Amino acid sequence: MKSFLLLTAALLLASATVAAAPNYEGRKKCGSCHRSQLESWEKTAHAKAMDSLAPKARAEAKKKAKLDPNKDYRHDADCVGCHTTGFSHEGGYDPKEPSKYLTGVGCENCHGAGSEYRLLHRKAGQAFEKKKQTTARQQLAEAGQEFQFEERCNACHLNYEGSSWKGAKKPYTPFTPKVDKKYGFDYAKAVRNDKAMHEHFKLEDVFTGPPIPPFRDEFQSKAKPAAKGKEE
Ligand code: HEC
Ligand code: HEC
Ligand code: HEC
Ligand code: HEC
Repeated sequence: MKSFLLLTAALLLASATVAAAPNYEGRKKCGSCHRSQLESWEKTAHAKAMDSLAPKARAEAKKKAKLDPNKDYRHDADCVGCHTTGFSHEGGYDPKEPSKYLTGVGCENCHGAGSEYRLLHRKAGQAFEKKKQTTARQQLAEAGQEFQFEERCNACHLNYEGSSWKGAKKPYTPFTPKVDKKYGFDYAKAVRNDKAMHEHFKLEDVFTGPPIPPFRDEFQSKAKPAAKGKEE
């Protein structure tokens, strides 16, 4: 009986740790270790997504989508959800206190809210450096890191009325294939667009085992050497 109680207590503790929902923190933390990805990402349309909401920016595109090109949409709750990081989630973008590390479509929009898994990255990095010890990737998934991506892309790119994507709900994107065919979203093609995502850099395989992200081998086979940084 006593050991049963102990076991129950241990299980409760374990599930409490897993249940702690991760928060958004912004790209400063990620970028201080992953400097190459940060610098490459800074050149992408995702990084500059907030600029498109400013008055006069992309005036022709806005008119075509029946938006007002002179309006400032940078505080509009119908827009910022897809042009910032973690809007309406714990730690995410807040128009009342706009953090520059949460403007634009950032690391955590694709890789998941990072407060829990980034701690595991640090620990695993140290264990690898000191003893060449590797860490199971499964722990990262349990801490909220994303390895599939497609649903996250769809939630912004295919979120409109009449979309082929089942999860669509308001606020919708104004830029749909009905407005212009070029706004159609082909995931397999888009995810290979390094100019819109970020370029890929060599991993040392600190993490091992499932879930291995789709395209990992393809991207790593062409990856450049990474410039790493230390956490600030
Ligand atoms: C303290 C440094 C540090 C921080 C902070 C950090 N990482 Fe990492 N990250 C690492 C190390 C070390 C690895 C293992 C790299 C390798 O295998 O070469 C890694 C691996 C990764 C991987 C590949 C995981 C895999 O499947 O093998 C991704 C993606 C990643 N980090 C994204 C992020 C994001 C996004 C953030 C911010 C939320 C972040 N990291 C914060 C150090 C860090
Ligand atoms: C939080 C919403 C959001 C997520 C998640 C997101 N995107 Fe985007 N994406 C945008 C926005 C907004 C733009 C337009 C930025 C601008 O020009 O202002 C964009 C632009 C792009 C472009 C460039 C389009 C062009 O015409 O040049 C590509 C390609 C793209 N995204 C692919 C992806 C892929 C692949 C994923 C998932 C791995 C993804 N996006 C995830 C919001 C998102
Ligand atoms: C559901 C997500 C979502 C919402 C909500 C959203 N957008 Fe976007 N926006 C996107 C995506 C995705 C793109 C990239 C489209 C592409 O290039 O394929 C984009 C692109 C844009 C562009 C660039 C278009 C171009 O061709 O240059 C502008 C401007 C823009 N959005 C303004 C707005 C405004 C203003 C609002 C609010 C009224 C808004 N967006 C709401 C997802 C969204
Ligand atoms: C629009 C989506 C998107 C954004 C934004 C994004 N990533 Fe990625 N990232 C990916 C995809 C897709 C992969 C490829 C899957 C893999 O192999 O892990 C990837 C791979 C990685 C890797 C593995 C090594 C490599 O270079 O392929 C690291 C580390 C990483 N990203 C860090 C970051 C950091 C740091 C940021 C923010 C500065 C960021 N990512 C922003 C989608 C994104």
